[in-house]
Amino acid sequence: MTSRFSAARTAPFFMNIGPYALTNKLFVAPMAGVTDRPFRQLCKKLGAGYAVSEMVTSRRDLWDTLKTSRRANHEGETAPIAVQIAGTDAQMMAEAAAYNVDRGAQIIDINMGCPAKKVCNKWAGSALMQDETLALQIVAAVVAACAPHNVPVTLKMRTGWAQGHKNAVTIARAAESAGVQMVTVHGRTREQGYKGCAEYDTIAAVKAALRIPVVANGDINSPEKARDVLTCTGADAVMIGRAAQGRPWIFREVAHFMATGTYLAPPLVAEVKRLLLDHLLDHYALYGEFTGVRTARKHIGWYLKTLPGGEAFRVRMNGLEACQAQLQAVGDFFDDLGVRMDRIPANAEMGTGSGSGPAPERMNKDKNKEVAAA
Ligand SMILES: Cc1cc2nc3c(=O)[nH]c(=O)nc-3n(C[C@H](O)[C@H](O)[C@H](O)COP(=O)(O)O)c2cc1C
Repeated sequence: MTSRFSAARTAPFFMNIGPYALTNKLFVAPMAGVTDRPFRQLCKKLGAGYAVSEMVTSRRDLWDTLKTSRRANHEGETAPIAVQIAGTDAQMMAEAAAYNVDRGAQIIDINMGCPAKKVCNKWAGSALMQDETLALQIVAAVVAACAPHNVPVTLKMRTGWAQGHKNAVTIARAAESAGVQMVTVHGRTREQGYKGCAEYDTIAAVKAALRIPVVANGDINSPEKARDVLTCTGADAVMIGRAAQGRPWIFREVAHFMATGTYLAPPLVAEVKRLLLDHLLDHYALYGEFTGVRTARKHIGWYLKTLPGGEAFRVRMNGLEACQAQLQAVGDFFDDLGVRMDRIPANAEMGTGSGSGPAPERMNKDKNKEVAAA
């Protein structure tokens, strides 16, 4: 069931990262504590063409921790398996790349996008953009470590480290010359954190300066926004983060819109119930009961955040400590909801699940009505 949208259609799209052909140009963003293997798999199943793991530290002493070994576990993951690494030392980053390639990584992504991550008492992530020499030493070392394995290296960055210091174009150009095969740009500076709005002019400038694929990221939370960002940046792909929290079907909605110019109807309540219960089972399988039940709460909260009765349910659910009780409660919630409605309400469906950083803007109400009428 679809409703017409008057905008020009965007042709179906495909792209490559090195030798890997992707099914589309819709990426799920790496989000530490969110985009674990179960969530990445779910997003891919629901239309994301590509997913990058949560970052893995370059600190060797942490590789044997449960947290890092879970992040480096790619059992059953749909290819290509892309692992993001974070650190501040070129040699350590090269070793981290090799470690992850040994464990199945087919693409290595360098994190220069995270606003606040300390590794070895130094700021990693987007703070590296402040030290271009070090940033490029890291890029060169990681590319050299990956080259013998034919593993492409990609880079995720921000527009710069502060207003007035937007050096994304300079770093991206140098990274391309050093052998990086794709660059993703989040349209904020490091100084901004998640405040304000993402800007896309710098992303467009990066795209214009490079020959390799460029991915646009930041505040994309609807099919039209995805289309508009692709159009105004000329980027090869878009990456969606917070808007996919609790709403992993956003990828198929965007894909459908890009292919047809029409909106997909919101998902059936019964489908969301099935998706969430399957997500939880996968989640428990990775984390075990104790950690699994606790870390699943945020995901459940995101799915339910904008649904009628969702907030009251979330408070009650936080007291449950066993997988079975959590599954049962979630199942009952959706069964009750299903008595009142067939589909997730359009306005809820367009909400964001974000619990981290500001909520991306909502679609305007007229468009919600258009979807509701579908
Ligand atoms: C909870 C959370 C964790 C994140 N972790 C990472 C990370 O590990 N690596 C990274 O490059 N970016 C990370 N990011 C940034 C996202 O990948 C993305 O660039 C940012 O959220 C903007 O996209 P969005 O507006 O679609 O959410 C994280 C963001 C959030 C909200």
